[in-house]
Amino acid sequence: MRLDKLLANSGYGSRTDVKKMLKTGAVEVNGQVKKDGKLQIDPVNDQIYVLGEYVEYRENIYIMMNKPKGVISATEDLREKCVVDLLDDSLRRFEPFPVGRLDKDTVGLLILTNDGKLAHELLAPKKKVAKRYWAKIEGLVNEEDVRAFEKGVVLDDGYVTKPAQLSIISGDSVSEIEVTIVEGKFHQVKRMFQAVGKRVLELKRIQMGALSLDEQLKLGEYRELTNEELTLLQSQK
Ligand code: URA
Repeated sequence: MRLDKLLANSGYGSRTDVKKMLKTGAVEVNGQVKKDGKLQIDPVNDQIYVLGEYVEYRENIYIMMNKPKGVISATEDLREKCVVDLLDDSLRRFEPFPVGRLDKDTVGLLILTNDGKLAHELLAPKKKVAKRYWAKIEGLVNEEDVRAFEKGVVLDDGYVTKPAQLSIISGDSVSEIEVTIVEGKFHQVKRMFQAVGKRVLELKRIQMGALSLDEQLKLGEYRELTNEELTLLQSQK
C-alpha cells in the first residue's frame, strides 16, 4: 500500500494534506524520513511515525459515547454544539459521524464511526435493530400502556408503530420505565408516550442491538469500542 494512502486512511487528512505533511519531513518509516507518498508500505511490518507519534494502521474507528444533554447528534452546525465537537482531535481526524440521532435533550448510548457500511446496516429499517431506552414519565404508566405499545400506537401523523416492549420499573405520579423499539422515527419514544396521553421527562438510550451503554462512562465521556463490542454490533447484520 502507498504511504500517502495509509496515512490518509489513518486519519491524517486528505491525500493533499498528507502530501504537504510528507514534504515537511514529519514522517519516518523504519527510522528514516520519507517524503515520497508513492513509497510502498507493508502496513503490518513497517514502523511509521508522524512527528514521533506511532501510526497504528486502521481505516475505521468505532466510538461509544454517553451523550450529554445540550449537544446535537450531528457532525457540524453553525449554532449548536455537536457530539463530534466533544471528541479528541486524534479521533476527529477519522471524520466519525453519529449512527442515528438522539434528541438534544436525550442522553445515553451513541455510536460514532466512519464506517458507513456498518452505520447503514444498523439504521436500515428492514434490519429492525432494537434500541432500548430508560425513561422517566410524567404520570402513572400502567398495564394498558404496556398492551398498547405491544400492539402499536398511532403517532400524531397517523403512523402506527411496530410492536414495542414496555416494562414498568416503578409507577407513581412519575413512572420509571424501559422501552425497546425497533424503529427510529423522529422523537419516536416521546411521541409514543404522547399517543397514550403521557409525557417523557427524561430519556436515556441504554442499548443498541446487543451493545449496552458502559455505565462507567459519565455524561459526555466516550471511548473506543473493544473488539468484543464491535463483534456484538456487527452481529446485528
Ligand atoms: N425517541 C425520542 O423521542 N427521542 C430520542 O432521542 C430517541 C428516541
